[in-house]
Amino acid sequence: MEPKTKSRSDSEWHWWLLVTAIAILVAGAAFVTIWKNFHELVPNKVPPIRRPPDGVTQKYSDALRVSTRFFDVQKSGKLVNNQIEWRGDSGLEDGKDENIDLSKGLYDAGDHMKFGFPMAFTATVLAWSILEYGQHMEEVKELKHAQESLKWITDYLINAHPSDNVLYIQVGDPDTDHKCWERPETSTEKRPTIQINTSYPGSDVAAETAAAMAAASLVFKNQDASYSKSLLDHAQKLFDFANSYPGVYSKSIPVIQDYYNSSGFVDELLWAASWLYHATRDRYYIDYVTVMHGNAFASWGNPTWFSWDDKLAGTQVLLSRVNFFGMDTEMSIVENMNLQMYRRTAEALMCTVLLPPPTNKKTNGGLIWVNEWDSLQYAIASAFLSLVFSDYMFTSNTPYLYCNGKLYEPMDIRAFAISQADYVLGNNPMNMSYLVGYGLNYPRYVHHRGASIPVDANTSCHNGFKWLNSTKPNPNLAIGAVVGGPFLNDTYIDSRNNSMQAEPTTYNSAFFVGLVSGLVTSSSVVRSFT
Ligand SMILES: *[C@@H]1O[C@H](CO)[C@@H](O)[C@H](O)[C@H]1NC(C)=O
Ligand SMILES: *[C@@H]1O[C@H](CO)[C@@H](O)[C@H](O)[C@H]1NC(C)=O
Ligand SMILES: *[C@@H]1O[C@H](CO)[C@@H](O)[C@H](O)[C@H]1NC(C)=O
Ligand SMILES: *[C@@H]1O[C@H](CO)[C@@H](O)[C@H](O)[C@H]1NC(C)=O
Ligand SMILES: *[C@@H]1O[C@H](CO)[C@@H](O)[C@H](O)[C@H]1NC(C)=O
Ligand SMILES: *[C@@H]1O[C@H](CO)[C@@H](O)[C@H](O)[C@H]1NC(C)=O
Ligand SMILES: *[C@@H]1O[C@H](CO)[C@@H](O)[C@H](O)[C@H]1NC(C)=O
Repeated sequence: MEPKTKSRSDSEWHWWLLVTAIAILVAGAAFVTIWKNFHELVPNKVPPIRRPPDGVTQKYSDALRVSTRFFDVQKSGKLVNNQIEWRGDSGLEDGKDENIDLSKGLYDAGDHMKFGFPMAFTATVLAWSILEYGQHMEEVKELKHAQESLKWITDYLINAHPSDNVLYIQVGDPDTDHKCWERPETSTEKRPTIQINTSYPGSDVAAETAAAMAAASLVFKNQDASYSKSLLDHAQKLFDFANSYPGVYSKSIPVIQDYYNSSGFVDELLWAASWLYHATRDRYYIDYVTVMHGNAFASWGNPTWFSWDDKLAGTQVLLSRVNFFGMDTEMSIVENMNLQMYRRTAEALMCTVLLPPPTNKKTNGGLIWVNEWDSLQYAIASAFLSLVFSDYMFTSNTPYLYCNGKLYEPMDIRAFAISQADYVLGNNPMNMSYLVGYGLNYPRYVHHRGASIPVDANTSCHNGFKWLNSTKPNPNLAIGAVVGGPFLNDTYIDSRNNSMQAEPTTYNSAFFVGLVSGLVTSSSVVRSFT
């Protein structure tokens, strides 16, 4: 019988071999293509993080050189190496009634008040800027200047704290001061002081001063160890005072309320403890902000706007630093979880500025909008925090931040910071630079007594008002002033008596110095902090 299968001939075998070989080649090629595509679609490792270009950006280094000058414009006391030709010595008798020397420090704004609460905050923000971006400042030779400006405030703060539970928090009487329009150099009005003490406590101002001194102790650690140590001692004592005698300073001393009315002190306690942790690496301060008071004080999950009154957002970003880069001490699970909560809240703040409205409110020109008074403060403060946070992400190789299902890279966060800085520098519907002395089109009628009166004018308290009334631009340049800023409709009225928009503050300049020093060059490594 015929077999159903028969052995193949040699030529048949060759044919089958050929077909099989072709099939294997085709399948292999297909596999390689699929494999390649697969790897392009689903990376098995994170692609390199987009980073800002290297090199110094002229625009921001120019802006930095201008903005640090405002601290010179605002100096009280016997000036040293003064570079502002229309400024001279002033406030030399400040504190004399109390047998202390409160001659140094900075005038707050367009007047000649020394308000301790915002002055200390200016120092804290300036110190933070130096700690994060000191190397950037050094690249454009501004580091020494920034450090000297900081020291002019901390010298004052040291003298303002003559014993453990006493802190002088104000020099000058705002009612008297505001009834005059004169140069600080020629002023003869009485300048009374106000202190807080155990009967009239002020945890907010004491803790803010502690934060400033703790941060500054880090700035001066390497160059002047004994000064740094002295700052740290004061900071720890002031923190204990703030913590042991709880109270809102503007409730203890109600006359304060018309100016820097404080909405509470728990934010300053956390902020000061966070700085003290960085300055001492003492576990106690981590315990303070986590297990002891985190739940009650920190408002986790509810980001707020960083300002002279509210330090929570700054605290969240500053404590994210610990979460990003680790710490020296061992931590408990609860401490770890609480530090996570700070970082999550900082991330929520980033999402608030990054996501489209209505998560935040912006002017048509793109400026973050929170409040009509000193409108720029909130924009530049949140831009500074965003920049710092994005640099923490770059340095720790953290590629993404998730916001409501959207994915943001650190470059996106940096772009937000740039958008706010550029708005201030003139990229806005008015084409106006809100940094005085930068660009060609900046405010000429800044609300500032010293800048508005010619050096050789013989003015006294009342007749000086003719310089407020004058329709001519200021004779002196308040260089580095960051004015209050525009309306919600992006317009600005350049008028000397428009204090809502045209008055600068020292903390605006501190935020802006931090912001532009971060942008001077790229930050791949946060090295300078400690
Ligand atoms: C405590 O501070 C209040 C408010 O500044 C002040 O009136 C009072 O004299 C101070 N107490 C002492 C003992 O100096
Ligand atoms: C100061 O702030 C407190 C608490 O926020 C508030 O009750 C008070 O009315 C404020 N005072 C003024 C003058 O605005
Ligand atoms: C600002 O500059 C742009 C472009 O140069 C110009 O179109 C616009 O009219 C300017 N706006 C004002 C208010 O000057
Ligand atoms: C300044 O004005 C006062 C009176 O207002 C006068 O006594 C004084 O001599 C004047 N000083 C100068 C330098 O003109
Ligand atoms: C300045 O203007 C105000 C309001 O118009 C007026 O009351 C005051 O007399 C003027 N002062 C001087 C010194 O010109
Ligand atoms: C912009 O807003 C301010 C304050 O609300 C208002 O006074 C001004 O008239 C507005 N300007 C324009 C051009 O709409
Ligand atoms: C300046 O503004 C204040 C407050 O709005 C007002 O009381 C004062 O009369 C104004 N002064 C002048 C000279 O316009």
